[in-house]
Amino acid sequence: MSIVPSSRVFRLSLLMLLLAVLGTLWRSRTESAPDVSDQSVADSRSSQQSQWESIIATEFAGDDACEVCHSEESAAHQRSGHSQTAFRMEDSELARQLDGTHYTDPEDGRTVSFRLSSRGFFAEVHHAGRTVRNRVDWLLGSSAHAQTAVSIFPETNAGLEHCWTWLAHRNELGRTPGQPDFAGNSDPIDTCDGRQMTGDDVVHCFSCHMTFGPAPGQPLAKVRWHPNINCERCHGPRRQHVLAAHRGQADAVQPMVNLKDPQVEMALCAQCHRGTQEVDDSIAESDRVRFQPYRLEQSRCFQNNPAALTCSTCHDSHDATSHDVTRYRNACLKCHSREEQVHCAEIESSQFASSNCVKCHMPKQQWSGGIEFVDHWIRVVHEVQGDQ
Ligand code: HEC
Ligand code: HEC
Ligand code: HEC
Ligand code: HEC
Ligand code: HEC
Ligand code: HEC
Ligand code: HEC
Repeated sequence: MSIVPSSRVFRLSLLMLLLAVLGTLWRSRTESAPDVSDQSVADSRSSQQSQWESIIATEFAGDDACEVCHSEESAAHQRSGHSQTAFRMEDSELARQLDGTHYTDPEDGRTVSFRLSSRGFFAEVHHAGRTVRNRVDWLLGSSAHAQTAVSIFPETNAGLEHCWTWLAHRNELGRTPGQPDFAGNSDPIDTCDGRQMTGDDVVHCFSCHMTFGPAPGQPLAKVRWHPNINCERCHGPRRQHVLAAHRGQADAVQPMVNLKDPQVEMALCAQCHRGTQEVDDSIAESDRVRFQPYRLEQSRCFQNNPAALTCSTCHDSHDATSHDVTRYRNACLKCHSREEQVHCAEIESSQFASSNCVKCHMPKQQWSGGIEFVDHWIRVVHEVQGDQ
């Protein structure tokens, strides 16, 4: 048993609070923008901000510190999209590919030309005789499916999601999924260069592609971004664990989050991949196939015993998605070893044990822009029924 000095208890409880709300905090900033004119609010906010910065500096160790003892998880993480989902635009492969080229939106005729220079990467949009030029700051997405460009304007505390996106399945640029045809669109949020974002929108967007973002109310100009979803985004701060482990006492420091608990794990994944709590009526049915926790939660496999089925039943949380059919079938057969009879009409019973369960029960579905997702709502999908 160790005795913790009280200042540390305070810092830890603040830290827990911050981590617990990390996911929702970033998201809720839009609704609860505090009154900036109120001096006491501003003071308490600025003290929160410096506490947040100091916690990051003192409690987090960074991925490099883990590798020496957890080489397997570290190598797997390097392969996963989690470790390569946010890039400085000018450092990206895409910036080099696009330099000197241009793109024309096939439907509304907007043309964008690209230039990489020592001052950064620039996108110039030409539309109806007007030209708008922006420096592109960030590229989100590993390109497993897509990569979308974002600009940040610190002077106005605003941002822009560009209208063009790299679409991997087409191996070319296309319209950013979710953005409308610009011709005839009158929503002021959609301008010819893309979708305008407030500072809160930028933080929300980055909150799922980065390890941690700013403290509440921190203006974009002052934010130090920590790109990608690193070990401590999922495991919580680990500096104390690293120090103790180097003294041979790794288990002297208990983890802040126990990811061995399936429900804790699911709640973590749902922060970004979105579960039932994160999906509301404003999200169209056709968009929901992207949200694996939400879809899985619709399955009878899950509902029957929520503690028995979680993401790591089928996935290694550290690694890239496996395409090994056997891996997934083995997961099904843990609970469904005696279903041959049901499949008489579908599959000869001798072939049941080697069949591709996922192809029939978790078929791929189209999402926006032609991107496909495996439907995590495990069920008997009757073709004639369509989606539902
Ligand atoms: C000097 C070696 C060492 C370093 C460095 C280290 N660990 Fe560990 N870690 C261990 C050992 C040993 C265990 C097993 C302890 C136990 O049995 O609980 C462990 C267990 C864990 C566990 C599983 C049990 C738990 O506490 O949740 C996680 C997760 C973990 N480490 C994450 C990390 C992360 C993240 C980092 C980098 C920030 C890191 N470790 C750095 C040695 C290390
Ligand atoms: C902080 C947000 C966040 C959290 C938490 C999170 N993910 Fe992700 N996950 C992402 C993003 C963003 C991507 C897309 C990465 C890319 O390819 O650009 C992704 C991609 C993935 C992929 C595809 C990886 C690949 O390379 O094929 C899997 C599988 C996955 N996540 C599973 C999980 C599981 C399981 C959990 C919970 C243990 C989890 N994620 C937690 C944001 C998150
Ligand atoms: C609530 C969390 C969340 C927010 C907010 C969010 N994303 Fe994502 N994003 C994800 C997850 C999870 C994935 C991986 C699964 C998928 O592709 O849907 C992903 C995938 C992506 C991909 C495709 C990566 C790939 O190659 O597979 C791009 C591009 C992307 N997001 C861009 C953005 C942009 C730009 C914004 C803000 C304007 C944004 N995202 C906001 C969670 C989020
Ligand atoms: C997307 C979330 C996520 C990220 C990022 C992540 N982990 Fe994990 N990790 C988990 C989950 C969930 C578990 C528990 C379930 C499991 O074992 O797969 C886990 C388990 C572990 C364990 C215990 C393994 C065991 O067999 O007991 C260690 C050690 C670990 N992680 C280290 C790391 C290190 C080091 C990194 C960074 C290189 C990292 N993790 C990044 C989600 C994550
Ligand atoms: C943790 C245990 C578990 C795992 C793993 C699991 N299931 Fe299930 N599944 C169940 C239970 C329990 C039911 C409900 C049975 C009932 O209600 O009679 C069910 C129901 C089903 C149903 C009928 C659902 C419906 O709505 O008609 C199908 C189809 C199914 N599972 C297929 C699969 C496939 C395919 C996999 C692997 C991709 C899988 N299951 C993985 C436990 C599991
Ligand atoms: C019953 C098995 C099963 C479970 C449980 C499961 N997945 Fe998957 N997941 C799959 C299969 C199968 C694929 C597609 C593999 C392939 O591409 O070959 C997949 C693919 C993905 C992808 C890549 C996007 C895509 O559609 O190709 C992400 C992200 C993902 N899963 C996240 C999650 C998260 C988060 C959870 C927990 C809520 C979860 N999965 C639970 C079987 C599962
Ligand atoms: C060729 C497509 C196909 C494959 C492959 C397949 N299934 Fe099925 N499965 C079906 C169909 C169709 C039904 C519905 C049969 C019916 O209702 O008569 C079904 C029904 C089920 C049910 C529901 C039984 C019930 O009680 O209603 C389960 C569980 C199931 N399958 C599990 C699996 C597992 C596990 C695998 C892999 C080992 C698998 N299936 C492979 C098509 C398939």
